[in-house]
Amino acid sequence: MISPKYLFIGPIVQTIKSGDSIELQIIEEAGIAVQDGQIFEIFNRPKKSEIKADIITILEKGQFFTPGFIDCHIHAVQLPNIGLGFDKSLLDWLEAYTFPLELQFSDNSFAEKVFEAAVKRTLSLGTTTACYFASLYNEASLILAEKAVKYHQRAFVGKLNMDRVRNDNYYERTDISVDNTRKFIDDLYKLKSSLVNPVITPRFALSCSMELLKHLGKIAKENNLLVQTHICENTGEIKECKSLFPDCPTYTSVYEQANLLTNKTVLAHGVFLEDSELKILTKYNSSIIHCPSSNTFLRSGLCDIQRLRKNNITVGLGTDVAGGNFMCMLDVMRSALEVSNHIGFIQGDSYKPIDFVDAFYLATLGGAEALSIDNQVGNLIAGKKFDALVIDLKSKDSPLDNLKSLTLKEQLQRLIYSGDDRNIVNVYVEGHKVK
Ligand code: GUN
Ligand code: FE
Repeated sequence: MISPKYLFIGPIVQTIKSGDSIELQIIEEAGIAVQDGQIFEIFNRPKKSEIKADIITILEKGQFFTPGFIDCHIHAVQLPNIGLGFDKSLLDWLEAYTFPLELQFSDNSFAEKVFEAAVKRTLSLGTTTACYFASLYNEASLILAEKAVKYHQRAFVGKLNMDRVRNDNYYERTDISVDNTRKFIDDLYKLKSSLVNPVITPRFALSCSMELLKHLGKIAKENNLLVQTHICENTGEIKECKSLFPDCPTYTSVYEQANLLTNKTVLAHGVFLEDSELKILTKYNSSIIHCPSSNTFLRSGLCDIQRLRKNNITVGLGTDVAGGNFMCMLDVMRSALEVSNHIGFIQGDSYKPIDFVDAFYLATLGGAEALSIDNQVGNLIAGKKFDALVIDLKSKDSPLDNLKSLTLKEQLQRLIYSGDDRNIVNVYVEGHKVK
């Protein structure tokens, strides 16, 4: 059977890369031809295409397409804790709030309920790709993968690895953790979904032995998988890392020694990376996932992503729920802009804070580059998948008053600084309408 050809007509607002620079691209009147979820042609409407579409969607006046948002770091298990526990900083927060909640995911029915909500909610907030920390437990982690398949979200799902002995038994023996990781990868591939893939997920250096980290580096290499973990989030954490791994001069060198650093490694936070660590990350082409809301509310610190980008480190954005207080990438973009301005207050006029185009890039194409999927998603160009949002600042329940007419560039700016998910009226993942 020949699959139908779709044609989407309306303006596109997105970022593109031209050499090393990022540009905002605005196509006032575009036609996007899609078959089997993939864009096979984009044209300016006055130019007209030859294609005969089976199904045509024309945006209403005032609406426009953007690429879907990419949340490069989110803990699906922590959804029930969102907005709680910000009276503590990272290590105390993990003990008081996070580990007790995560222990409950040995109960599959609880996992079902939470993960159903996590996938449905993030999709409706415009997250077309999510890179998830799932659970220590294999069964729960698979349930999250199944929910992403069911609701058609592009996702990386990581079964957590932790082998440091704890009194509450929230860890696995090293050999069991390794075996369970291999089994999880096999089971996830049995779902036969091109949208959902496994990611190797050591929680952070503090919860893993070097032996386990090395096994995980090997598994990632054998299977050519993404690796995700946390790095240099909090000063107390870094101090403890150095005392747990006395042979490693820096936090980054722990992961380097374990062969966990590749161009498919995404490291959340990186607030306090030393210059020598930036050199290591650049050498391996590993990415940093900036989680500004979490860094603010857990009082971790101000992460200067301009410094990272000057060192040619790819940066994506993450909600880091429930370290972060919102699940919508619009909030994370805003938080990244605030943090960058605050760094500017401290550093003075020589500092150039990020602007809304940078924030938009980080939440779309930048995230795709960090996750090494920029050949598939990140913007709407021929050959990529149709992962897209329809934005409408005048939607029925929009939080915004529209008292003067705006250019498309101004509308994007208003969306990022002042809009919310009520302005995201439709969401498409690989051509499927999921909102
Ligand atoms: N470091 C180790 N585990 C976590 C976690 O769950 N959240 C955050 N923000 N940092 C971590
Ligand atoms: Fe995190």
